[in-house]
Amino acid sequence: MNINQIPIIAIDGTTASGKGTIAYKLSQYFGFNYLNSGALYRLVAYEAMTQGVELDDQAGLIEIAKNIKPIFKDRQVIINGDDVWPIIGTQTYGNPASIVSRIPEVRVAIFDCQRDMIQAPGLVAEGRDMCTNVFTDAKVKMYFDASAEVRAQRRFKDEQEIKSGKTYEQILEEVIMRDERDKNKPVGRLYPTDDALIVDSTDMNRDEVLTACIEWCVKQGITK
Ligand code: DC
Repeated sequence: MNINQIPIIAIDGTTASGKGTIAYKLSQYFGFNYLNSGALYRLVAYEAMTQGVELDDQAGLIEIAKNIKPIFKDRQVIINGDDVWPIIGTQTYGNPASIVSRIPEVRVAIFDCQRDMIQAPGLVAEGRDMCTNVFTDAKVKMYFDASAEVRAQRRFKDEQEIKSGKTYEQILEEVIMRDERDKNKPVGRLYPTDDALIVDSTDMNRDEVLTACIEWCVKQGITK
């Protein structure tokens, strides 16, 4: 299959809007590959923190980003044979990832690694600049959001499960701060494109969101 014919489903959205779960479920439904682009920024933050590189050391962070080459397999993010997603997927790396993602050269350094994921029979890619920057050629575009309160409530439930001890108010503040940072970056800022389906899941459950997304994809010509 010519690379230009490989269908791409691109999903952007705010933090805790549910895009990760739905993107993965869509990839399973259509039998497509799955890219969690946030994992790349989380990896840069993780490597920096492990290697003792400060989050304000731009040159150090850019160097790390140039050498990040994980293998994505299902939901796993594999580095040197180990799945690091259980570590980097936690809240500990969410905010640092958002900080490193503000550096334009970091974004450039991981661009090709994301485009390399375009492989038959198709790709579902989720993040903040999938529709607007990395996969502008995507056949299907979607933008996920929900009220900050509902997203904080969902995250609060997750945090209670892992007994993080954070209060709802703390989490709500983090969600609002992350939105602010993600939407106001010099490069790769989060915003919906005109051709994207806007999915506001404030009053929707996961199954309703998934059904709406599958319908939209099929309408745009995506087949199993
Ligand atoms: O989706 P996530 O929470 O794993 O992403 C972590 C941070 O990485 C997010 O706050 C901003 C950044 N990011 C980005 O700038 N561009 C992307 N395509 C994905 C994530």
